[in-house]
Amino acid sequence: MAKTGLYTGLDIGTTSIKVVVAEYIEGQMNIIGVGNAKSEGLNRGIIVDIDKTVQSIQRAIRQAEEKAGIKITNVNVGLPANLLQVETCQGMIAVNSDSKEITDEDVRNVASAALVRSVPPERQIVSILPQEFTVDGFEGIKDPRGMIGVRLEMFGLLFTGPKTIVHNLTSTVEKAGLVLDELIIAPLALTESILSDGERDFGTTVIDMGGGQTTTAVMHDKQLKFTDVNPEGGEFVTRDISVVLNTSFNNAEALKVNYGDAYPSRTSSNEEFPVDVIGKSEPIKIDEKYLSEIIEARVEQIFQKSREVLRDIDALDLPGGVVLTGGGASLPGVVELAQDILDVNVKLFVPNHMGLRNPVFTNVISLVEYAASLNDIYHISKGAITGERTIPKPTQVAQSAAPNYSQVPQEDYKPDDYGYDDYYEEPKEKGPGLLDKAKGFLNNIFD
Ligand SMILES: Nc1ncnc2c1ncn2[C@@H]1O[C@H](COP(=O)(O)OP(=O)(O)OP(=O)(O)O)[C@@H](O)[C@H]1O
Ligand SMILES: [Mg+2]
Repeated sequence: MAKTGLYTGLDIGTTSIKVVVAEYIEGQMNIIGVGNAKSEGLNRGIIVDIDKTVQSIQRAIRQAEEKAGIKITNVNVGLPANLLQVETCQGMIAVNSDSKEITDEDVRNVASAALVRSVPPERQIVSILPQEFTVDGFEGIKDPRGMIGVRLEMFGLLFTGPKTIVHNLTSTVEKAGLVLDELIIAPLALTESILSDGERDFGTTVIDMGGGQTTTAVMHDKQLKFTDVNPEGGEFVTRDISVVLNTSFNNAEALKVNYGDAYPSRTSSNEEFPVDVIGKSEPIKIDEKYLSEIIEARVEQIFQKSREVLRDIDALDLPGGVVLTGGGASLPGVVELAQDILDVNVKLFVPNHMGLRNPVFTNVISLVEYAASLNDIYHISKGAITGERTIPKPTQVAQSAAPNYSQVPQEDYKPDDYGYDDYYEEPKEKGPGLLDKAKGFLNNIFD
């Protein structure tokens, strides 16, 4: 049945928190509200200060509420790929009822049977994705309910994540006064959203260039095969500019956004612009090529790290090549640089929704789409983890709180709209820690 109802996506990023409210009418998606607020309380994609993150989320939610003209109560949140693990799982039960007709209860029970395994104490099960069922030996069944059988088997995927990351994320969302409908594996939603069927089948790599981290994800045979998190992103590019040119982080960000290019060979040393330098009363002149060389050094290092991990798993040979997205991919020249370093076909993905044609929004849109695509079988199986026994219905638009369409953005966001100048503070010193080890390997587990 085509979806009808409201879905809100919440992307808790290191640089900014994005919110998208979408109304589905008979499966048709209309974006009715958007929020994008400066993020505080995260370091390299991970929540390190719950209270500050709560305030940032509330700012972004308020913006989206004003635009949509509704109160947001429920959200679908992305879980970053840090230390994520996925494994196949399988369960089998005897069908319960006397009639032997398979019910919701049987599906929940077979999912529970598939969950029985030892999970290390520092990890927890985040999600179970049923892939197919077998009824009395008949394979390939997507929804066994209503069928008659004695033996029911389920085959699926099980995602586990670090308890601390999952706990911090869920309690932050709750503290922000929101109900967490779905905790969505972010690279799973992203790859499903932006790749075509063929790209997902034959194999394609997606590189999400965030502010605090870069996530490389490989989709092949329509399954998420691999993720790697490199705790380096666009904020590091800005910090390099700030350090080399001896200018503030805010100035450096403005330089990057207004004049930056990651591909020096197409820039000119004759194009100059003034830069306020700490300790000098007069601005100094910097040329475009010099700025570009500073940017290139960091972005090149980021792509080289992606190349290493992709080469290890032979993913550079996949026919779909590489798709870049995330705010960092807005930088001119990244596609050309990635092409040189990775030596594969590279393209940029920009969302195609009115008002959101900016790769900053790719992730949050994918969360909404993913949440809206989840079916009853998913929700029933999820009950095996949460104990929930009812299938949730999407929030309906209450008559009194109907969206105010006049406020829906009619033009695309420009950098000024999300206030780069007052967006940033000097980044905190980012010492080594858990995240330096952050590598979410889904090591070719299906092969
Ligand atoms: N037009 C632009 N030109 C250059 N860089 C840009 C532009 N727009 C955004 N960025 C950069 O994109 C980065 C933010 O991207 P994004 O919003 O995807 O990250 P995030 O989701 O907040 O962080 P993360 O995913 O790492 O937790 C910042 O470093 C910002 O400087
Ligand atoms: Mg992000």
